[in-house]
Amino acid sequence: MSMSSRLREVIMEDIPDITSDTVDRLRKLNINSVYQLAVQTPSELVLEISDGLFDIGEASNLIGNARKILTERQILSKEFSTADDLLEKRNKISRYATGSKKFDDFLNGGFESQAITEISGEFGSGKSQICHALCVAANNLVENNKLDDDDENKQSAAETIIFIDTENTFRVDRIYQIAEQNGFDPLTILQKVYHCKIFNSEELESVINNLDKSIEQYNTKLVIVDSIISLHRAEFSGRETLGERQQRLGKMLNKLRRYADIYNIAVVITNQVVSYTDNSQFGSDYIKPAGGNVMGHSSTYRIFLKRSGKNRLATIFDSPYHPNQQIKFSISDDGIQNASSYKGPENVDGNDSTW
Ligand code: GTP
Ligand code: MG
Repeated sequence: MSMSSRLREVIMEDIPDITSDTVDRLRKLNINSVYQLAVQTPSELVLEISDGLFDIGEASNLIGNARKILTERQILSKEFSTADDLLEKRNKISRYATGSKKFDDFLNGGFESQAITEISGEFGSGKSQICHALCVAANNLVENNKLDDDDENKQSAAETIIFIDTENTFRVDRIYQIAEQNGFDPLTILQKVYHCKIFNSEELESVINNLDKSIEQYNTKLVIVDSIISLHRAEFSGRETLGERQQRLGKMLNKLRRYADIYNIAVVITNQVVSYTDNSQFGSDYIKPAGGNVMGHSSTYRIFLKRSGKNRLATIFDSPYHPNQQIKFSISDDGIQNASSYKGPENVDGNDSTW
């Protein structure tokens, strides 16, 4: 079942005991659908957007009822679900492919909906390149989506991607190139990619907070945030602001998680790394994903990239569904390539000794 038909199915008036006055008040706050209500938390609604129109009791009731409706329509899981219900929900998962068979197999078919997948790694390790390759895959998503309900028109052309770019590294010509090399019509793909350029952390928070409207408007299936952390890291750099940074980061991730669940979309975020010195007998330097526990606990899947000569290694860890495993890939004009079949030029970064 496609998102557009789901959105049509559930209307505000379906919420138990809702009055037209309440619907009007919600519209005043620019909450226009059951989904947009269900992604709120009561305290968000009251403290951040309600403008005195709702108190906490009414807000929790309303949000609870909105979630109840979505649960009844099997869009959200019940608090206590039997395993077969969960299986049904899992069967609704869509997978979004990068076009590199090996990389997609590594992810059991592609980046999953109802999940946040984090890609971390040092500069130049290929995070943004994977995000670009993933845009190209928008073209054949629907046909690949064999696990979705089959009572709907799978050929819908309305599937879109939102690409949130905080580092100004989005390159439309690169998507064009990868699309062309893979035999897709580049313009068809570019029409499906909504680019959103962000300049500061507050703007990022605000865009993420209001993303439900765009997800509905554009019928988005995949949200990419490249990168989730760079602006916050730059703006909250001191030790004394670390707590605030983590709290803000956690809030964004929490919201993205709710979108992934409620809208059945895939969220892919990139993360930077921190180096730390191991004080053990080896005394050597290590790197690990930035963002600490907040980041670690928010992502469903975590992928770590590193360079290995002219190739790259991707490791998936902390996944409930994938064994801890590693693959080698490379970046070429075609996008993400199997390392074994890659016959392109040597890496000219001149930085290979890092790994
Ligand atoms: P940061 O954002 O700096 O943290 O790095 P990143 O992990 O996002 O790295 P990115 O994905 O930008 O990878 C950069 C590498 O991809 C470059 O060093 C090149 O090796 C490769 N690359 C980038 N563009 C192209 C391209 O157009 N063609 C080919 N063949 N390789 C490219
Ligand atoms: Mg990048």
